[in-house]
Amino acid sequence: MYLLIPAAGSGRRMGSDRNKLLLPLLGDPILAWTLKAAVAARSIHWIGIIGQPHDWQEFKAIATRLDIIKLVHFIPGGSTRQESVYNGLKALPAIADRVLIHDGARCLATPDLFDRCAEALQVHAGLIAAIPVKDTIKVVDPGSQLILDTPDRRQLWAAQTPQGFHVDDLKACHAEGQRNGWDVTDDAALFEQCGRAVKIVMGEDTNLKVTTPVDLAIAELILTQRRSQG
Ligand code: C5P
Repeated sequence: MYLLIPAAGSGRRMGSDRNKLLLPLLGDPILAWTLKAAVAARSIHWIGIIGQPHDWQEFKAIATRLDIIKLVHFIPGGSTRQESVYNGLKALPAIADRVLIHDGARCLATPDLFDRCAEALQVHAGLIAAIPVKDTIKVVDPGSQLILDTPDRRQLWAAQTPQGFHVDDLKACHAEGQRNGWDVTDDAALFEQCGRAVKIVMGEDTNLKVTTPVDLAIAELILTQRRSQG
């Protein structure tokens, strides 16, 4: 299975002046944890890391330390996640017919989750890892800050990555999105807007996206616990 890892963001919400994926987490950069899980998955045999060229040297050093430099390919990122993934899709080898996309910032996803998504991609042309929401979600008017709606929680799922797609279908949806100026935060949203079906694969409670310093502290706790459990 081909895997694209968008890793071309900044550290703005982390309060960092550099790519948050290079920040240390239990002694290793965040991206190293993501890569370790991906290479431990049985299904993954090709990894494209999408990054800003000024980070490549450090990315390459991480891949060298993990002894996976032959497995990984470096692809230039764009100014949004959407642009970065589109660059990644265009850089896939011509024979790649299916692809998983996994945010570099989700460094706690397990190898098993990658493998379950890869397996489901044999049956479905579009899928995402997701978990049922635990909180009650409100739709709020951004101006007045008054609640507009309380959707039925039983229908709400929190989207995660990996997300998996047939490559030609997702490329077509990205092209359509670019033509129409669609601005989305995940790839499934493009698939949905193109009228295509997206299947849910049960995600993991611990598969959080490291976005703020609090997330980093929680990630450290979870990894420490995993270590002590062997
Ligand atoms: O900012 P956020 O954490 O939501 O970004 C999700 C993922 O997309 C991160 O792994 C980040 O590195 C990546 N990204 C990207 N290109 C951008 C912005 C974000 O690859 N221009």
